[in-house]
Amino acid sequence: MAQATQRSTVPAIRKDRRKAPWPIEFYRSAVGKKWVMALSGVMLMGFVVSHLIGNLKLYLGRNEVNLYSEALRDMPGHLLPRTLLLWVIRVGLMGAFAVHIHAAVTLTQTNHKARATKYQSPREYLAANYASRTMRYSGVIIIAYVIFHLSDLTFGSGPHNLRGDAYNNLIYSLQRPWAAAAYVIANLALGLHLTHGAWSMFQSLGVNNPRINAFRRHFARGFAALIVVGNLSFPIMVQLHVMEPTCSANRTPKAQVAPCARAIAETASKITAGK
Ligand code: HEM
Repeated sequence: MAQATQRSTVPAIRKDRRKAPWPIEFYRSAVGKKWVMALSGVMLMGFVVSHLIGNLKLYLGRNEVNLYSEALRDMPGHLLPRTLLLWVIRVGLMGAFAVHIHAAVTLTQTNHKARATKYQSPREYLAANYASRTMRYSGVIIIAYVIFHLSDLTFGSGPHNLRGDAYNNLIYSLQRPWAAAAYVIANLALGLHLTHGAWSMFQSLGVNNPRINAFRRHFARGFAALIVVGNLSFPIMVQLHVMEPTCSANRTPKAQVAPCARAIAETASKITAGK
């Protein structure tokens, strides 16, 4: 009996976790998570640059934007079924977005556990700059923005949306002052996130040489500034009425109906009201 009591007080020995394949074992380490964060970050940076380049077509007019939007769905011509390649890229980006967030959250949890005291000393706190201290807040704003942005434009939940008319859909969306403000706030948060992210990814990948540290800083700030200035120009131009919805005669076949019908109906109702 006494023996049984004694045995029950012995702490259970934790069995070693079974070894997973090496990519998973690597990801379980802090270094692996940092690599995954950096590489998925590079993919997401590639996306924001190409997205900005595509969005700059807004300055070329509705026809160019709608042709571009259709061309993305038609990539790579007749070699694959329509939208297949676009979906492969979308799934890749969603994967990058998911692992980026997972690695960030789990790394933060590990850091918190490893730290003897929960809070940093005032000295440590000051040493970390504003962008690095606010990564999780800017990250949350970006996630919220992407959800809004996709439901607003890509899935077309707004009343202003017409499938195939990306140009007018965006202009109608950004004409709402609260939506324009949301774009401005989110892109400022994105700029802050990129300033630290584009700098620290070099460190995560082991590139930390005093000779290139100045380049790292300039690259990160320049990259973030380019994205922020480019992206902010759209809501600002729409709010200033430099960009207006258009109803040109030169339209892509799919994009003809609703905005023009709406414009015609509005004009017609004005005429009727004037009578
Ligand atoms: C002011 C800046 C921006 C403008 C004007 C803009 C505009 C657009 C437009 C017109 C579309 C296409 C909607 C359609 O399917 O017809 C789109 C899609 C998208 N945008 Fe943006 N965007 C901006 C910033 C951003 C940012 C900062 C992010 C991410 C951090 C982002 C993420 C996306 C994603 C994930 C899609 C879906 C792409 C797809 O359909 O595969 N956008 N955006």
